[in-house]
This record gives sequence, C-alpha cells and structure tokens, in this order.
Amino acid sequence: MGRKKLIAGNWKLNPADADATLELLRQLKARLAPFTKTPMAVIPPFTALHLATDILKSTRVAVGAQDLFWEDSGAYTGEISAPMLKSAGCKYVVIGHSERRQYFGETNETVHRKIAAALKHGLTPIVCVGETLSEREAGVMQEIVREQVTQALRGMGENEVRRIVIAYEPVWAIGTGRTATPGQAQEMHRFIRELLADLYTINLADSIQILYGGSVKADNAASLLQQPDIDGALVGGASLQADGFAEIVKAAELIA
Ligand code: PGA
Repeated sequence: MGRKKLIAGNWKLNPADADATLELLRQLKARLAPFTKTPMAVIPPFTALHLATDILKSTRVAVGAQDLFWEDSGAYTGEISAPMLKSAGCKYVVIGHSERRQYFGETNETVHRKIAAALKHGLTPIVCVGETLSEREAGVMQEIVREQVTQALRGMGENEVRRIVIAYEPVWAIGTGRTATPGQAQEMHRFIRELLADLYTINLADSIQILYGGSVKADNAASLLQQPDIDGALVGGASLQADGFAEIVKAAELIA
C-alpha cells in the first residue's frame, strides 16, 4: 500500500486561445501552491506544454501530454514523439483515452505501442481503460477492461509495468455529469488490481496507482477518493477551473 493519490487535470482541446491558457496556468500555480502531499499534474494541449512547464517549473505540479506517437522521429506529419515530450518537460502522457479510441482509431494495439515508447523515454504513461454504456448494460464490463489491460501490457516485464499509471474511465461517465458511484468505481478498481496480481505479482498490483476518471468534481471527489483502490483522479471538465481543481486536490490531501 502507501500509494499516493495523484490528481491530474486533462484539459482536452481547451482553452481555445493563448490568453486564457496563460491565465489558467497562473491561477493554478497560485491555487495549488498550498498543497504539499498530493502529487498533481496538468495535461494541456501540445501547444501549451512549454508554457506550462515554464510557469509550473518550481512548483509541485507536474506536466503531462494527452497523447504521443510511438516512433521517435521521421516522416510522420502531425505526430509528436516521446523524446519531444520529454524534452518539453513532461512527466506524464495519457495513452488510450476513450476519446482517442472513439474518434481517432486508437486500438489496444496502438495503445500498447505507445506505452512502450513512453516507458523507453522515461515518461509515465497514464493508460486509460473503461467500458461503454452498452457494454455495462450487457454486463461485459469486466471482460472489456480485462482485454484492454491485458493487451496494453502484453509482453511487458514487471519493471516496466511498475512505472505505469492506470486510469479507469467508464465512457458513460466522461463529460456526462453521470459519475460512477464510489461502489461501482471501487469494484472495477479492485478487479483491475486483482488482474494485475494475476498477471504479475501481488506486490506489483499493490504498488500501481489506479485513477478514476469521469465527471469528477469538487463535490464528489472525496467519496470516490476514500475508496481503498482509488488512487487519484483524472479530471476533465472540472480541471479547467482553478478553484474547482484545487478543491479536488484538497479532498485528496485530506484523505492522504
Ligand atoms: P470529465 O472527463 O471529467 O470531463 O468527465 C474525464 C476524462 O475524460 O479524463
């Protein structure tokens, strides 16, 4: 045990302009300054990474990217590589977010390749898994998540997997205001941890951070973060307001 609760803000395709980006970063720097225990990260669009690492450089707030490509360099117009993210000052990279799977053709295979590239260059992948509403209603959510986790980690050794963060994000809870209940989330987090224990060791499973994502807000964060297998939150919409995001970090700080 002894896992810390990581609170990461995924900005997605926001804010649309440079002034708003600068303002949000400045506000976050100020609002997050009092928190000393909880690991924190902001995950802005690629174009804001340098600004984010610059503004947040002497703070406890790490910076992450929302995606990467598995090749280091070459003729791949429009792509961003792990060495580029590393040299931009990133610590984390989100991989396999459901919006990438849904709109941009991401598969368990591309997720696997991206995780390997991130690890090779010392980035911490935040690997997203989660079922759709119809999969939950059909009762196959555990099979779906088992497949996503197993395929993502295929062939990876214990030393690699130890450096991965997993985010359970039920697709039906993302951006919908419909959060998984703490009980539903805990059940799936427990399932993922047991799966990791089966695939690797109990010791490894105990050490892996498993974040919850999907409509996490200031008013539901504490009840989710109190669950024994929920090791933090991947926050979308609510991470675009510095006050709201700080409230979520405060909830984690009080539990830690
Ligand atoms: P949400 O997004 O908090 O806006 O639901 C979560 C995510 O997609 O990571």
